[in-house]
Amino acid sequence: MIHPRRSCLLFRSWLAVTLGVLAVRTVDGRDVSGFRPNFLLLMADDLGIGDIGCYGNDTIRTPHIDRLAQDGVRLTQHLAAASVCTPSRAAFLTGRYPVRSGMVSSDGLRVLQWTAAPGGLPPNETTFAKILRDRGYATGLVGKWHLGLSCASASDHCHHPLSHGFDHFFGMPFSMMADCARWGLSEKRVRLERPLRWGAQAVALAALTLTAGKLARLLPVPWRPVTWAVALAASLWAASCSVGTLIVHADCFLMRNRGITEQPMRPARTAPLMLREVSSFLARNRARPFLLFVSFLHCHTPLVTTESFLGTSAHGLYGDNVEEMDWMVGQILGTLDAEGLTSNTLVYFTSDHGGSLEAQDGNSQYGGWNGIYKGGKGMGGWEGGIRVPGIFRWPGVLPAGRVIHEPTSLMDVFPTVVQLGGGEVPRDRVIDGRDLLPLMLGATQHSDHEFLLHYCEKFLHATRWHQRDSGAIWKVHYRTPVFHPDGAGACYGRGVCPCSGDSVAHHHPPLLFDLSRDPSEARALTPDTEPLFHQVMARVARAVEDHRRTLRPVPLQLNARENSWRAWLQPCCGTFPLCWCDRETDAL
Ligand SMILES: *[C@@H]1O[C@H](CO)[C@@H](O)[C@H](O)[C@H]1NC(C)=O
Ligand SMILES: *[C@@H]1O[C@H](CO)[C@@H](O)[C@H](O)[C@H]1NC(C)=O
Repeated sequence: MIHPRRSCLLFRSWLAVTLGVLAVRTVDGRDVSGFRPNFLLLMADDLGIGDIGCYGNDTIRTPHIDRLAQDGVRLTQHLAAASVCTPSRAAFLTGRYPVRSGMVSSDGLRVLQWTAAPGGLPPNETTFAKILRDRGYATGLVGKWHLGLSCASASDHCHHPLSHGFDHFFGMPFSMMADCARWGLSEKRVRLERPLRWGAQAVALAALTLTAGKLARLLPVPWRPVTWAVALAASLWAASCSVGTLIVHADCFLMRNRGITEQPMRPARTAPLMLREVSSFLARNRARPFLLFVSFLHCHTPLVTTESFLGTSAHGLYGDNVEEMDWMVGQILGTLDAEGLTSNTLVYFTSDHGGSLEAQDGNSQYGGWNGIYKGGKGMGGWEGGIRVPGIFRWPGVLPAGRVIHEPTSLMDVFPTVVQLGGGEVPRDRVIDGRDLLPLMLGATQHSDHEFLLHYCEKFLHATRWHQRDSGAIWKVHYRTPVFHPDGAGACYGRGVCPCSGDSVAHHHPPLLFDLSRDPSEARALTPDTEPLFHQVMARVARAVEDHRRTLRPVPLQLNARENSWRAWLQPCCGTFPLCWCDRETDAL
């Protein structure tokens, strides 16, 4: 008689071996439908790879994420397909470079700017949620979306999570941003306020001149235009003062499925609301396969942090916020455990891209820490903007404590999840992600990515070549942002570094680094210092050519035309323009 615990262990070892064998033998048509795991995907916002204990931070406390790594597989070269939210998240959900879906721009706008902009993840893109939902999974999204909402009318919801394969949504259709908190001030707001204030001042000056001229009996004008000018100046000024409030109502709100529940949202309450939503989703779906994507509003500015965490870390408000996020991870994993779901759930933790170096509050750092890696959020190719934490845990199947240094991508989650869930990876389009299972199980030593491309908007900034026979990780940079002259390696004074134009250096020949020897990209190699220089350049150029041949022109979703505010797309839960409601009151 085999003890039940032993039989479980035996079963799991058998499963691991079978999956390993299947993963190697049959890439397509693998049938693991008898033991399809649940998926719990956790994504932090703007978190740096250097902010996590298990990635080398010894002063920030992230015990729950560290524990996840201890019990699972930790990827050390896990790469986002873009260094800002919208394109990175589009690539994550579709397994495709954002240039393929059009989730990029060519004119400087990096992410979706308004909930009421018509751009967004095109309806003909297929997310892993959609494939799994069609395979009988309950699919939920809790937290941030930032991939668009509606196309032509405020209620068509063509880009809404529910139109992209999620059957449950609770969270922000947009993104946490400075304006959502009373103390925050965004660039967007400044950009909108400035012309109104200038206009108000110009008109006021004109009115003053007219009045003075009239009083001095130099200008024979009637009083009426003077009154008008004063009224106009006052209205422009009043408008400039309400820009902040308008933005908050336009973009900082919560939805449950298709309905708005809190507009504007009360940021401090969203953490407990999200946790409650996660618990109820897990309880509701414990008996059937599910995929739950928890997309944290942490650790994006303005770093909304629950009071009990304020002042508790060694790293100011940013550290408090990271530690609260880690605590939330712990709460969620605790719920998973309490529901008896730990052993049949594949858990994943990552960040959508690197920490923001430009986020400063006076002189103190307000954004994430990217460890030894150069650059950060918003930079096309530098490692700090794209190398993020990547942890997978599936007890009994994935080896505990394994660390993998191979290049992998957030896009790999797509085929990995789809195939484990018993779905099929679409064949009618290019999928750039690769199944991670063989690598994580140790059935193969190398990731499938020989080349990875690093885009900034629609411009290729860098390419990575993993030369397998030598182990070198070559990185070729064609364009790099021109940093602020203070030498700190960031674009201070602008929200993010630009991708094109004069503020970007074009390199002829390109810059070359070998990340296996120089992970911080500190010393560019030259034909004198690197005998393989020309060979590497030629090989990478060929790979880029091959890649370009697979690209098709698609409508760009983030260009100004698709990415500006439309009154008729504005979701509003009261009467427009008084968009106000609070339906979460009885919740907590
Ligand atoms: C840990 O993270 C904090 C906050 O981002 C950062 O300031 C600090 O330098 C990091 N420490 C290490 C050892 O990476
Ligand atoms: C989606 O539609 C656009 C045109 O609107 C087209 O350019 C693109 O190729 C389509 N994508 C896929 C994956 O079919």
